Amino acid sequence: EMRLRGGRTGTKDMRRTWRRRCGCKSVQRNESLAAKGQKKSASWTQKVGPTAATNSNISVDLNGGLDPLHFARSFRQAYPYIEKHRNSTFVFVLPGEVSADENVLDGILQDVAILHGLGVRIVLAVGIGQQVDELLGMRGKQSVFMDGYRVTDAAAMRGVMEASGAVRVDIEARLSVIPTVAAVRRHGGNREFLEPAVKVVSGNYIRAKRRGVVNGVDFSHAGEVRGIDVEAIRSQLGRGCIVLLSNIGYTATGEVLNCNTYEVATQTAQMLQAQKLICFTNGDELFTRLNLPAWLTLKDAQALIGRILLEGLPETNCGSTTLDDSKCDNSALCQWQVRNCPLELTACVSACCDGVARSHILDGRVEGILLQEMFTRDGVGCMISADIYEGTRKASAEDVPAIEKLLEPLVENGTLLRRSRERLLSELQYFTVVERDFKIVACAALIPWGSDTAEVAAFVVSAGYRREGRGDVLLDYIEQSARSMGIRKLFLLTTRTADWFEMRGFKAAGYAHASRDIPHERTKHVDPLRNSQLYMKILEQATGSRPGSRIGF
Ligand SMILES: CC(C)(COP(=O)(O)OP(=O)(O)OC[C@H]1O[C@@H](n2cnc3c(N)ncnc32)[C@H](O)[C@@H]1OP(=O)(O)O)[C@@H](O)C(=O)NCCC(=O)NCCS
Repeated sequence: EMRLRGGRTGTKDMRRTWRRRCGCKSVQRNESLAAKGQKKSASWTQKVGPTAATNSNISVDLNGGLDPLHFARSFRQAYPYIEKHRNSTFVFVLPGEVSADENVLDGILQDVAILHGLGVRIVLAVGIGQQVDELLGMRGKQSVFMDGYRVTDAAAMRGVMEASGAVRVDIEARLSVIPTVAAVRRHGGNREFLEPAVKVVSGNYIRAKRRGVVNGVDFSHAGEVRGIDVEAIRSQLGRGCIVLLSNIGYTATGEVLNCNTYEVATQTAQMLQAQKLICFTNGDELFTRLNLPAWLTLKDAQALIGRILLEGLPETNCGSTTLDDSKCDNSALCQWQVRNCPLELTACVSACCDGVARSHILDGRVEGILLQEMFTRDGVGCMISADIYEGTRKASAEDVPAIEKLLEPLVENGTLLRRSRERLLSELQYFTVVERDFKIVACAALIPWGSDTAEVAAFVVSAGYRREGRGDVLLDYIEQSARSMGIRKLFLLTTRTADWFEMRGFKAAGYAHASRDIPHERTKHVDPLRNSQLYMKILEQATGSRPGSRIGF
């Protein structure tokens, strides 16, 4: 069950934000920044009470009604992720509607501080779009956006600088919270515990150039990113600091330009070769309108962008995540912004196209979403991955000769039974293949038997491509597919590869021909003379409420 923080749910406001982000003209905001913007870290300070156990900003009450067994299990589940994320670099995007909502911002920063405490190197790219809209609204000016950039005249630029400074100070303040003196003393701490646990730095890391006049529109002080001083950022991260990036860029002549936060974040993540780009939203509109699943391969995410480009953004839940990537040219879909597409999605895809292994889109209103996403298998946001399942896809008729070639040596040495061309064609719908450089290097079939059972068959990695983890990736993919089909029980027959499957959670279940654990329809085709062993695995079910579960980190 997800708990939402007190973020806005008003759809009118969200639609405005949506239109603005998709590059349409924005309407004026009347709400007063001053009225909403008296942000202090009071609520957070209250949370960091006498029970805080360390000198980081963690509001943990170990006696606070947490089921001890549940806590221990959660901690065990989290441990491999803690290890894996240590020393990784994560770039976060906190857009204006997140940095302007103190409840949402508080929760996110609290969990960012925990990640920092666990050794993750963190860059925060913070947007100020909403705050600038509000400031301009108060001054009777209108915000105008074209092609995803704010048309930044002198008045707008003043607003950008004011809002940027205010948000920076606000975030620094929230990350400076320390446990109470009483808590420190109780745990035997000394003066050093009274220093802020998180050091935050910011600076002139973004080089920019004027966007200039495009199609007759003078963007004035709007800028495009020319470069990021990654060495300086790396060195600050190496010193244990969180690096705070605004959307303000500087020209070689000392001019100050208003850049787009998503462009800044995407380029930073790419140039740092960050492990993750994490984009927060302040609502679930993106998830419901696009029916975003728990994970998307890079290819599927690009197909989604391609579909939005062709058909526009659905007004309501688009109902299906079935994607057809044959209609679009993926190479054109690596830009940080694409017409009509949500920036969270395009930024994530762009980062993954250029070296970032995984990107995440998270609804910042969900209590603890960052920790859930980082330290549980299925997470609660949407993950886009460039590193897993790359080249893995359903087989098609053109793959038949390549699959036959892959199976042939194993048929020859007796590991697999020969499949006639007719049988292979009739089972083709169940086959998955892994393609590398236009060559099929692995295949496997997942054949359903009834509603909750399926057989894993013809599981092969080509001899020249073994021992590089492809077998594991393929098996994970097969298990994912099985889960999403509602399958609970997998079985397979093997003569020579029992150990490999046993190490991956399959359990021996006797000889296949004599088994009653698999459908009779199947056993009657088993050749008793082969003495094939039966192996079974019960699949853990996905924990998320949305389809799909994930593997890896
Ligand atoms: C089994 C197979 C799919 C693994 O593919 P892979 O891409 O090499 O798998 P991974 O890289 O994920 O794992 C490789 C590890 O499995 C081990 N392994 C390979 N074949 C094994 C076997 N028959 N029994 C036990 N372990 C085996 C390797 O030694 C390696 O371990 P190491 O890295 O510690 O040395 C591949 O070896 C293969 O296609 N074998 C022939 C086909 C086959 O037997 N299919 C099963 C039909 S039921």
